[in-house]
Amino acid sequence: MKAFIVKRYSKKDKLQLEVIAEPTLKENDILVQVYAAGVNLIDSKVKSGEFKLVLPYKTPFTLGHDVAGVVTKVGAGVKKFKVGDEVYARPADHSIGTFAEYISINEKDAALKPKNISMEEAASIPLVGLTAWQALVEKAKLKKGQKVFIQAGSGGVGTFAIQLAKHLGATVATTTSTNNIALVKSLGADVVIDYKTQDFETILKDYDLVLNSQDAKTLEKSLRIVKPGGKVISISGPPDMAFAKEIGLSWFMKTVIFFLSNKVRKQAKKLNVDYSFLFMQANGKQLSEIGKLIDTDVIRPVVDKIFPFEQTNEAMSYVESGRAKGKVIVKVK
Ligand SMILES: NC(=O)c1ccc[n+]([C@@H]2O[C@H](COP(=O)([O-])OP(=O)(O)OC[C@H]3O[C@@H](n4cnc5c(N)ncnc54)[C@H](OP(=O)(O)O)[C@@H]3O)[C@@H](O)[C@H]2O)c1
Repeated sequence: MKAFIVKRYSKKDKLQLEVIAEPTLKENDILVQVYAAGVNLIDSKVKSGEFKLVLPYKTPFTLGHDVAGVVTKVGAGVKKFKVGDEVYARPADHSIGTFAEYISINEKDAALKPKNISMEEAASIPLVGLTAWQALVEKAKLKKGQKVFIQAGSGGVGTFAIQLAKHLGATVATTTSTNNIALVKSLGADVVIDYKTQDFETILKDYDLVLNSQDAKTLEKSLRIVKPGGKVISISGPPDMAFAKEIGLSWFMKTVIFFLSNKVRKQAKKLNVDYSFLFMQANGKQLSEIGKLIDTDVIRPVVDKIFPFEQTNEAMSYVESGRAKGKVIVKVK
């Protein structure tokens, strides 16, 4: 099968299109023929080696974290799926590789694809949908009437998170640049801040929750717009000790992370704000819940561009530009 491979960790090197063996199936795996793959910033971060210490992949390996496709084979222990099922998934770390014609995925990480959307739209959902779900529903338990600030509302995570937060009954503030104001409003954002001309810290006050996805300065300012007892959940770092423990890092890496998060933890404590880092996890059950919200038109996918499979490197570059409005997809079949 054809696959886009990382030959060595490098920021500059392109992915190589190669013909490799089809994946083998373990007992609980399904073999999925990839119709569409979503592109995420984590693809670039894994390729460059930025994530090597926490997510070591042995080169060469196939890149890609989001998929929609059709089940073509099932392992002997598979219970949830049969050949012919249309599915979508964010395969678990260490089992990635959606920039390929086939991928094997543990059935617990996949869900039936929502029926009312295309394969390309379905491939846009898993990673960002699960990130938003795990931040807003699982970690923050966001409730009706609460106020949440979701940064970068026009990005992959933002476009999904705004819709989910509105569904949960929260008031949503977001940042974006002038060109994307109409988009984030159409998704339901109540307070829209143009980050090119306005400073969110002077506008937002007493928020219950911030979903932080930007730099250290933005994180520091975010702590100050949250009310005492509120939460800041960051998906762009710095990682915290709970994360280090969760993924079983060495004492050396735990020490590194202790120092990386020292400043923000101290600032948060002083303000009586709960700071935590989230690194999203594969989860087929949560994807099924998300699928229901898509099937009932509560949440709609926001797809910016679809690239042909051969142009996977171009799709990666477009995501790296930081200007995507919603998601970027590679059409494989
Ligand atoms: N920890 C995790 O599990 C996890 C999961 C998913 C993502 N992430 C991380 O979260 C971050 C966001 O991911 P993403 O996929 O949503 O990114 P993305 O889709 O690539 O973000 C692009 C969007 O960000 C907006 N943007 C850029 N700079 C901004 C700023 N200063 N303020 C507000 N908006 C700004 C852009 O809008 P304009 O063109 O209008 O500027 C664009 O629409 C990344 O760092 C990613 O690696 C982490």
